[in-house]
Amino acid sequence: MTSKQNKLRELGKQAVQQSLPARMQAFRCMLNERTLTYKRTLLSAADREVTVQDPFTGALRNMLMFASNNYLGLATHPHVVQRVKETIDRYGCGMGGPPLLNGYNRLIAELEERLAAFKSQEAALVFSSGFAANLGIAGALCRSNDLILYDEKSHASLYDGLQLTGAKGIPYLHNNITQLTALLEEAKPKQGTVFVCTEGVFSMDGDLAPLDQIARLCKQDGAMLVVDDAHGTGVLGEEGSGTASYLQCAHEADITMGTFSKAFATCGGFVAASAGLVEYLRYHARSYVFSASLPPPVVATVLAGLEVIHAEPWLRKQLQQNAAYAIQKLAPFGFCVPPQAAIIALKLPEQMSLEKAAFLFHQKGIFVNPIEYPAVPPGGERFRISIMATHTREDIDRLATATEEVWNDPSAYHS
Ligand SMILES: Cc1ncc(COP(=O)(O)O)c(C=O)c1O
Repeated sequence: MTSKQNKLRELGKQAVQQSLPARMQAFRCMLNERTLTYKRTLLSAADREVTVQDPFTGALRNMLMFASNNYLGLATHPHVVQRVKETIDRYGCGMGGPPLLNGYNRLIAELEERLAAFKSQEAALVFSSGFAANLGIAGALCRSNDLILYDEKSHASLYDGLQLTGAKGIPYLHNNITQLTALLEEAKPKQGTVFVCTEGVFSMDGDLAPLDQIARLCKQDGAMLVVDDAHGTGVLGEEGSGTASYLQCAHEADITMGTFSKAFATCGGFVAASAGLVEYLRYHARSYVFSASLPPPVVATVLAGLEVIHAEPWLRKQLQQNAAYAIQKLAPFGFCVPPQAAIIALKLPEQMSLEKAAFLFHQKGIFVNPIEYPAVPPGGERFRISIMATHTREDIDRLATATEEVWNDPSAYHS
């Protein structure tokens, strides 16, 4: 970490104890010191190429999008768009209430049935976001005498969900089966339910959890397996049903959670599990009970997305081929871990400034995500590249050329 970063972090730490105005002032100082490529405004659909209002010049410009979770290009797929238009004509734009009161309609019921089948579970429940689904699972199911073992690289929603439980949470080293085995062994004689939580495809690294091994351990030790398959759903496995299917253990997870904000390219989340568990969650997950239902156009987007995923397996194949090509082209620059799905985490060379390098990518018309704390631990800064089925080979070549130029540009490094 550079002295400037150190100084800013120190200021931030001191500010935590201060009043809100002082904290806001410290934050403003921090923002003024930085050249941020966050929150760029798009003026077009979230496609492989986007029109962006440049935050530095105000000009409109086209950029190649390598930061979107719209993995299959469903955000603009003609079938999805058509179905959404028809749905708006019939159902309007919103529900105006939560699902247990006035906010449940036939479309949501149909989606829940389809998701349950898609995930090889008895039932499913639709939330207003994946984040809300994770909060809902934790808050409704875990109690203070339970134990939650979770992968240290879990998403923020899992960490925040833990705060709601009062249960003891123990992180295990990323994908470390030996440590998980020991923790499960230790937990055996204790009271309460043991939950094991992992992602299918890890959101910041793009590697997979050894779900088959984790499932076996859970079965052996009577623990409940909770899989967050935000990034595997629609991308991996038979019919795109996710990471568990890809690793031949589709029926093993007790609870699978997913989101509509990745391959379905919209928003919302879901939980798929046994009928009894879903019924319990429906009345106990506070982020479900006390939050308005997804609007019909969003539900229609996911229903149509499921139809496309079923009818057009070539999209998944194209995504896999594009990801393989991108991995091959980007390998010389170094990965945080070997990528296995459509997410590629590029490790920063020594002394590279994430901020300066991000600005260079931006200037070259390449839209990539700079990732830093708190999305990853301090020191884990990286560029997170997302590949889409709609990218062309030329797009990926442009990404690789830009990466080489940024990596070789002295202005990308701390001075
Ligand atoms: C692994 C994981 N879980 C949960 C979420 C939250 O999903 P949503 O965007 O639907 O709130 C995300 C989104 O970033 C994620 O990557």
